[in-house]
Amino acid sequence: MQYDVILPAAGSGKRMGAGKNKLFLELLNKPILAHTLTVFQDDQACRAIYLAIKSSEKTEIEELLARYSISKVVAMPVGGDERQYSVNACVKQIRAADVVLVHDAARPFIQQETIHKLMQKAATHGAAIAGVRAKDTMKRVSNGIIEGTVNREDLWMIQTPQAFNFELLRRAQQQAEKDGFLGTDESMLVERLGEVVCMVESDYENVKITTKEDLLFGEAILNRRRGGQQN
Ligand code: CTP
Ligand code: MG
Repeated sequence: MQYDVILPAAGSGKRMGAGKNKLFLELLNKPILAHTLTVFQDDQACRAIYLAIKSSEKTEIEELLARYSISKVVAMPVGGDERQYSVNACVKQIRAADVVLVHDAARPFIQQETIHKLMQKAATHGAAIAGVRAKDTMKRVSNGIIEGTVNREDLWMIQTPQAFNFELLRRAQQQAEKDGFLGTDESMLVERLGEVVCMVESDYENVKITTKEDLLFGEAILNRRRGGQQN
């Protein structure tokens, strides 16, 4: 079976503070965006890539696609002011699909095994998202005072990819647009329709490159993977 993937890449990377879109920053001499694209280019199960971009970065991205031999990008719509709008711009480009994954372009360390688990789950259950178990003790705090300790067993830290039956994702995006609802991930848009979303355990390496420290962590992961060690 196959899937299509939506990669929102139209952010500005404010928290990175690099003065440009963080996706152009390099990890071991290769832009973050190119690392992420390569994962899907190399995955036989990936049929097509929909990339949401900033209009001002179109030329730079076209050069990057050529340089890293990325041939699966079928549409590059201009993204919006919020990530959700960037994803929606891609959804609107898709005529027909079975399973569609949404994945942050800023998460270059996603493993094929997780992608395939998500694809399978979404194919059978409609929706599945990646995440990891919370590691620390979690407390609810109000105005600097502890209100209580939350049962950690029930808490997951959510990542992307998030995989959906395409018609479900389209319906969720359309309803959110109609209601003026802004969520922080696609799952929220599906949850509010009352539909079931499955949890797929991913790994702690699937970080979103957000701040400067993440670049160091990212290079360490790549160096270890290049060394051929798996864990
Ligand atoms: N993104 C997008 N359109 C937006 C905002 C974000 O396509 N309006 C993309 C980013 O390019 C990134 C992913 O969504 O690949 C996750 O967003 P985030 O990590 O928050 O990136 P930025 O928004 O670029 O960073 P910041 O929030 O620090 O400005
Ligand atoms: Mg952001």
